[in-house]
Amino acid sequence: MQHILRQLESKREEARLGGGLKRIEAQHSKGKLTARERLELLLDEGSFEEYDMFVEHRCADFGMAEQKVPGDGVVTGHGTINGRLVFVFSQDFTVFGGSLSESHAEKICKIMDKAIQVGAPVIGLNDSGGARIQEGVASLAGYAEVFVRNVMASGVVPQISVIMGPCAGGAVYSPAMTDFIFMVKDSSYMFVTGPDVVKTVTQETVTQEELGGAVTHTTRSSVADNAFEDDVETLAQVRRFFDFLPLSNREKPPVRPSFDSADRLEPSLDTLIPSSPNKPYDMHELIQKVVDEGDFFEIQPGFARNIITGFARLEGRTIGIVANQPMVLAGVLDIDSSRKAARFVRFCDCFNIPILTFVDVPGFLPGTAQEYNGIIKHGAKLLFAFTEATVPKVTVITRKAYGGAYDVMSSKHLRGDVSYAWPTAEIAVMGAKGAVEIIFRTELGDPQKIEARTQEYAAAFANPFKASNRGFIDEVIMPHSTRRRVARAFAMLANKKLENPWKKHDNIPL
Ligand code: HXC
Repeated sequence: MQHILRQLESKREEARLGGGLKRIEAQHSKGKLTARERLELLLDEGSFEEYDMFVEHRCADFGMAEQKVPGDGVVTGHGTINGRLVFVFSQDFTVFGGSLSESHAEKICKIMDKAIQVGAPVIGLNDSGGARIQEGVASLAGYAEVFVRNVMASGVVPQISVIMGPCAGGAVYSPAMTDFIFMVKDSSYMFVTGPDVVKTVTQETVTQEELGGAVTHTTRSSVADNAFEDDVETLAQVRRFFDFLPLSNREKPPVRPSFDSADRLEPSLDTLIPSSPNKPYDMHELIQKVVDEGDFFEIQPGFARNIITGFARLEGRTIGIVANQPMVLAGVLDIDSSRKAARFVRFCDCFNIPILTFVDVPGFLPGTAQEYNGIIKHGAKLLFAFTEATVPKVTVITRKAYGGAYDVMSSKHLRGDVSYAWPTAEIAVMGAKGAVEIIFRTELGDPQKIEARTQEYAAAFANPFKASNRGFIDEVIMPHSTRRRVARAFAMLANKKLENPWKKHDNIPL
């Protein structure tokens, strides 16, 4: 008996070595941890239950029959993060570059199926050269099986992808279908094909970093949601992020004990809005002062910075925040910011996360660049997303709420539940100057008259009272009491019930 137990232990030892010590050293020399070391950091100590440690590939071509590594380049199973269940896979770059064989795909599919059945998130640690070239179409079939599960799991359990090495082909398309992608700076890359193929096809010379590094994907392409310094920080941030999420669409978001009183007043907010309407202020300050303990996990902080999206808590409960950022492009809505916020709102709605919206928006960005690239369709995404969302929605207008952007930013008219405005709010079709230039066009030759008209228009509309007269704003509130007001609004809405009409699925303008 002891002999058999020792045999199992030595088989396990062999499997744990993956592609061998030399390749592990190479992995470490690039500043990267191994697949197993990463899981140790991601999961609670001792919580990992591994599956399929001895699965091997079935390929016999190109001498592959002699090159079998137990586990076949991916470590799979389940564990916990701060006591909550999660399914994981971690690709092992030391085994055929973490490439995906048919067997490797089957291992991933097995844990994804379980995750959907029991209702727990999937976190994939991706470090893979994509489809295993030696296996040909069998590995493509394997990827397709993973893709199908990504789609079936979408909106059922949260799916998080962490990119921790060079990822190509299917190794980026599967993450692209998950809810969030986090990257490691300077050691992770995402591209459909690498620089060599790019050179051959388009004659462009480009480095891996330029083509698909963390800077590219967090600031230009918006493929990734954030990037962190190294493996250790990235995995710590993923643990922090995980705590905001419900385990599935059947659950409400988790509640964490909070020591921050919901009644906390913030007198400094009474002076947040500058006296000049054209002067910016940092919307992050408002967010940090309103949410529990100032803890805000921002999504896509480096892309479309004119809108802020991210997760926080009120009275210990997760909320999603969408906020215009007057510091960047005056907080205007454009193609990128609409897309960014729409996707975020849809995630929140899938997973029962209430949405708090802070509004300071001068309108949609005009111009040919925006029109030619489809601002109409992309702006409609945000309009669509806020409208279809049935989760509790609370909105606070701090300053500008002009034109279509007023409607779009989770207004009462789009089934917003509670709308508040600060006394500094300006709610109108457009700013006074633009309005006067249109409706008093015949008086444009007389600057004095125009100035008087502008002041008249501003006095009538550059305030929250016209909207509150109509009940479009539920109350004009003191900035210092914003936390208390929104906390009470969400508490009141905790058991909100609203269902959309039955449909197969909607047809959001993609
Ligand atoms: C088999 C692979 C592999 C792959 C890497 N390796 N990619 N083996 N299939 N796809 C192996 C290498 O042969 C090498 O083995 C080891 O992994 C490490 O690779 P290196 O090239 O030495 O590492 P590095 O220089 O860091 O470059 C990593 C890389 C590059 C950028 C990922 O290897 C690469 O470009 N690989 C091919 C990417 C690709 O085109 N994949 C197919 C995508 S098609 P040794 O024995 O030397 O250690 C796809 C279709 C899916 O995925 C469907 C989409 C819709």
